[in-house]
Amino acid sequence: MNKYIFASSNQNKLLEISKQLSGITLLSLLDVGYYDEIIESGSTLTENALIKSNTIYNKYSLPTIADDTGLEVYKLDGRPGVFSARYSGEQANASENIKKVLHEMKEVTDRRARFKTVICLKNNFQELFFEGTVEGLIANEKSGDAGFGYDPIFIPNGCQKTFGEMSLDEKNKISHRSRAIQKLVDYLSI
Ligand code: IMP
Repeated sequence: MNKYIFASSNQNKLLEISKQLSGITLLSLLDVGYYDEIIESGSTLTENALIKSNTIYNKYSLPTIADDTGLEVYKLDGRPGVFSARYSGEQANASENIKKVLHEMKEVTDRRARFKTVICLKNNFQELFFEGTVEGLIANEKSGDAGFGYDPIFIPNGCQKTFGEMSLDEKNKISHRSRAIQKLVDYLSI
């Protein structure tokens, strides 16, 4: 009965959360045969996490976990934020998005930024949200090819390297996502 669906087709996210959620059976969208794109039309991470979990819960009636994440750069007024996935255009890939952030940060000396993840748990009687953040700096250039998305340009506080230069375990020790998932793990007592 301990079955949950993870409402994301992002295999990197699934990989990152699997170990922490080993106390439940976590089904991916591939496992349940869901191949459509979920349109993230919300104006906040919370709204988008809810849209994803509602879409999947309404179709499969199984408890659903969704993740919406954004990179918030202080001197860019919190951008790309909720637009992180499509920052340089609707079909943008990670390297195009990174290029745009680095370009906008070219002359900027205050390079503070943070990652924020909102996890939504939706089941038959409630919707709950769990948030995790990690503070850091935007690097001057890309480094490392581990991880995904903006990882190669984000240096977490207290570290000398980007998430892109870290192993999965290293990133998971301090990441926004692992912090949010830990709150879910505590709530579920698993
Ligand atoms: P979403 O949560 O799938 O909508 O992701 C928003 C954007 O942020 C995408 O471009 C992702 O690649 C990026 N992103 C999400 N999580 C991470 C992360 O842990 N590290 C780096 N980039 C991420």
